Amino acid sequence: MRRPLVAGNWKMNGTRSSVAELTQGLVRQVLPESVDIAVFPSFIHVDLVRSALAGARVSVGAQDCAQESEAGALTGEVSSGQLYELGCEWVLVGHSERRLIVGEDDGVVSRKFAAALAGGLKPVLCLGETLEQRRSGKTLDVVLGQLCRVIEDHGVSVFNNAVIAYEPVWAIGSGLTATPEEAQEVHAAIRRCLANEDAAVAEITRLLYGGSVKAENAAELFAMADIDGGLVGGASLKADEFGAICRAAGN
Ligand code: 13P
Repeated sequence: MRRPLVAGNWKMNGTRSSVAELTQGLVRQVLPESVDIAVFPSFIHVDLVRSALAGARVSVGAQDCAQESEAGALTGEVSSGQLYELGCEWVLVGHSERRLIVGEDDGVVSRKFAAALAGGLKPVLCLGETLEQRRSGKTLDVVLGQLCRVIEDHGVSVFNNAVIAYEPVWAIGSGLTATPEEAQEVHAAIRRCLANEDAAVAEITRLLYGGSVKAENAAELFAMADIDGGLVGGASLKADEFGAICRAAGN
């Protein structure tokens, strides 16, 4: 049985005071014992959030890391090792906002994935198609293509220590959610792709759904056979709503 994971991606949001308020709100939530919970603040708030959540059973991740794991000359970047030292357990890799706005391609994403593992972090590999790609029937080609690059470069066993998040780009921040059936179809294809390489890895790898997950739609998404939790954006900035999503994963 896979343990559900609910992750909150805070993106480029928050001030020191709003982040302190959000973490205080999280500490007050009744969170299910049966669910792993993580939040992903901006780099500059990681330390604050780690301290505020100490003892709260909510782990902390970063939203990105450098493609090199060794310390050195890479101005402006933050390494996985530095994040590990700060107490991060996770790091997002390949979020569509980084692929599409910053311009990270599959090669960069694959190197960041390896760098994350080398620094002691567990990567959350984000995959997803645009609306145009979905409308032209390319969803599975795109999503499995993004996944294949990591498998080709590093082997499928890396997923013993990683999580995959399927986030259709058209559902992110748009209020449009994939239906549970639409999401399940892609999740099942991702799991089949892993199983073609190694059935045991496919069985244990957690697949999260992301894209306008809210308290009101979380339960029906999490009820699907291959959806093992969520990667939540906007709704994770409200402690009560995020708490309700975590409880939905525990039911
Ligand atoms: P929303 O939940 O705001 O749609 O964002 C999803 C997301 O991108 C999480 O990484």
